[in-house]
Order: sequence, then C-alpha cells, then structure tokens
Amino acid sequence: MDIKPITPHLGAEVLGADLSRPMDAAQFALLHQAFLDWSVLVFRDQSVTQQQHKVFASKFGELHIHPMHKERAIEDPHILTVKTTAHSAYTAGDGWHTDVTCDEYPPMGSMLYVTKTPDGGGGDTLFANMYLAYDLLSDTLKQMISGLVAVHDGALPYVGAYKSAPPTGGYPRNEHPVVVTHPETGRKLLYVNSGFTSRIKGLHPQESRALLDLLFRHINSTPKLTARVQWQPGTLVFWDNRCTQHHAVWDYYPHTRYGERVSIVSAERPSADSVAALH
Ligand code: SIN
Repeated sequence: MDIKPITPHLGAEVLGADLSRPMDAAQFALLHQAFLDWSVLVFRDQSVTQQQHKVFASKFGELHIHPMHKERAIEDPHILTVKTTAHSAYTAGDGWHTDVTCDEYPPMGSMLYVTKTPDGGGGDTLFANMYLAYDLLSDTLKQMISGLVAVHDGALPYVGAYKSAPPTGGYPRNEHPVVVTHPETGRKLLYVNSGFTSRIKGLHPQESRALLDLLFRHINSTPKLTARVQWQPGTLVFWDNRCTQHHAVWDYYPHTRYGERVSIVSAERPSADSVAALH
C-alpha cells in the first residue's frame, strides 16, 4: 500500500488496498498510522459487501448504532444508509459537523462507502482539520476556551433539521470539553460543531451564542482547514471523527447519490487531557 496526501495537513489516498480481503498485522499497522497522520483516508475502486465493510470497521473497535436506529425496525442497525434523491427533504450531513457528538462515547471514526454518485457530478464531501482550527486561534482565545465544557444535543439535528420522532426518553444529550486532546496522537483540537453543540456551560445564553458563532465562523470561513473528496462509485472514505468535521455538499438536485456508513464507537470519552495520549 502507498499513501498519497491530498493536502499537506489533511487527507490521503491509500493506493493498493483491497478492503474485501483480510489484512495482515503489518498492513493494519501501516493503515492505522496513516489514519493518525492524515485523519481522512480515501480508498478508490473498492467492491465490498456490507459484511466486508463491517469486518474492516470492526478492526478499529466496536460498531456504533446510530441514535436514529434505536427503537426502529432496521434490518442491520450498524449500517447507516446515506441516500439522497429528488424526493429527499434533506441530505444527511449537509452542514459542518462531527458525527453523533451527542453520544457519551461518539464514534471514533466513520467509513462511508459510496456506490452511486450523482449523474452530472457534484456530491463531494468537505473535511476540516480540527487540530489546525485550534492551532490557528490566538493564544488569548485558546486560554479563554480552555477548561470550558459544551452541551451536544441530538435533538438539534435529528428533530430540528431532520424532523424525526425521538426515541423514548429523547435523543442523547452529553457534555464534552471545548478543547479536547486526541487520545492517540496527544494533539489538542477544537471540539465544538454546529451540527450538535447547543451551548457552552457557565456562560450567559448570549455569551454562549456569541462564542459558539465565533468558533463556527472560524471553521466555516477558513478554507485552509479543509480537504475536498470527490467520490466515484466504489470509493470508501474512513475519517477520524475525533479530530475532523465534514460537510456533505448537496449541489446535485434532482439527482441521486447513495452510500452506506459504518461507524466505530470511541473507547474513551472526549477528554481535555487524555490519559492514553500521555503514553
Ligand atoms: C455524513 O456521514 O455526514 C454524510 C457524509 C456524506 O454523505 O458525504
């Protein structure tokens, strides 16, 4: 396998991998290191069954069940269908977000396998580097946000945007630090996202809104944070959900795009000072 970077700081194409086949320890170690180095790995020309997709994802941890799959008759709760047609009211992920940060243990990564791209093009996904988003803040702002804790609320996207009926007890809502240390790389990163983060604790509502808006604007108005992935049928992308955000671009109406996503649960909660990262 060869690793070919997409930008100098985020994203790489992995050449020579066949994800339908078992991987030996050396290949897995190379991929795991590339995942930590580049945060977004792009595999082209894949042909995987749902089972092979899940087997590959399982190498990185326990498979995640999406909150929208709870209490629903879903054939396989580990497979999240990402489908947009001319009749869709929305496209999943059409805004900057990190997957499912409303969970106590959000996914450490997600693998999206796209098999139908829109006729006429479009349907790319933008990724943004949250290490760099943090690094680019002034030292004064870094000090201000260090130690702050934010609320991440599943009702924000799943009820507010997608209009889905919540499960018994409602969608998850959890608190995570605004600045997190990646548990494997030990690097600090900005951990608020406009998809799920509803407020910052300990601030007046208008202060919380103003600070979140400032941080969200920083993310969505700094192009150098990003890498753009153009899909082809058979492209599988594996992103590190602990240190990136992404934005699916719905620029292909009325055409159809189809993919399936498998996510992996983090072994640890997002933390300001990850113990694992110290080793
Ligand atoms: C998502 O997982 O947020 C969807 C990403 C995409 O469809 O490109």
